[in-house]
Amino acid sequence: MVELNTTVAFYNHEFTTLDKVQISPLDRGYYFGDGVYEVTKVHNGRCFAASYHLDRLYRSMRLMEIPATIAPDELTELHDTLVQESGIREGSVYLQVTRGTAPRTHAYPDRMTPNILMYVTEANAAKEELAQTGAKVITLEDIRWQHCDIKSLNLIPNILGAQKAKKKRAAEAFFFRGDELIEGTSSNVFMVRDGILWTRAADDLMLKGITRQLILTRVAPTCGVTCIERKIDRDLLLKADEVFYTSTTAGIVPVTQIDKETVANGEIGHVTRSLQEAYAHLMEDGLP
Ligand code: PDD
Repeated sequence: MVELNTTVAFYNHEFTTLDKVQISPLDRGYYFGDGVYEVTKVHNGRCFAASYHLDRLYRSMRLMEIPATIAPDELTELHDTLVQESGIREGSVYLQVTRGTAPRTHAYPDRMTPNILMYVTEANAAKEELAQTGAKVITLEDIRWQHCDIKSLNLIPNILGAQKAKKKRAAEAFFFRGDELIEGTSSNVFMVRDGILWTRAADDLMLKGITRQLILTRVAPTCGVTCIERKIDRDLLLKADEVFYTSTTAGIVPVTQIDKETVANGEIGHVTRSLQEAYAHLMEDGLP
């Protein structure tokens, strides 16, 4: 039995512990949020769908013009080593790449060296329970920029939205641009109507979630559920038979209430339940 050590971390070239990581105040991630990140699920002591997360990380870096100074194979190995060293069975690996360290100027110097931080977190039982009990969500106007497809460290509207939800004893806030549903503050949204699964077609205004992608390409087909990627407006959402949101850390979370409206009869729907079951099987099988 491996002893649990959730403080293990990796910073730039070495393994260390979180309390020993020394990050310069001149790290651009610190004063500009100038960096990108990923959160990869750990299940049964193994990373789940790490290659999907790494593909998205490199895409985010490319769009931010952050040079790739580390190979995907090396990052995969670092994920596995951290999970092994920490001894965690259920949780996640956090990976953050900032543009690097330099005196504060908005435009960045040529040839910066990115700073890479990684550490593990144990699963949050309260968050995981929502998948069983269902959740209440609120709705908010989306005040973010035009490139929410980049998983950037700049999350101010997301954290303010999540905090508003928390104050209203809701688990998540759904962002709308006018009448159109975009995504949650840290999740993607699905609805079911007449047995058909709907989700918004991915573009630059939302993060193309890995959980969302796996539901569309693997989980729903296994369950024999047809999916369509199409615009969802407020009226359609409020008339849905079932609604749920998805993320790496929360999984598939049934939504039973949106603002003051109850979703259908307030019970968790059978399509959501069967998708949850199939997703659990996929996680048991594992995915590189
Ligand atoms: N958030 N949309 C946003 C804005 C997100 O931040 C996330 C994930 C998702 C779902 O993506 P995925 O299925 O790949 O986790 C959608 C992570 C978990 C976070 O910020 O902690």
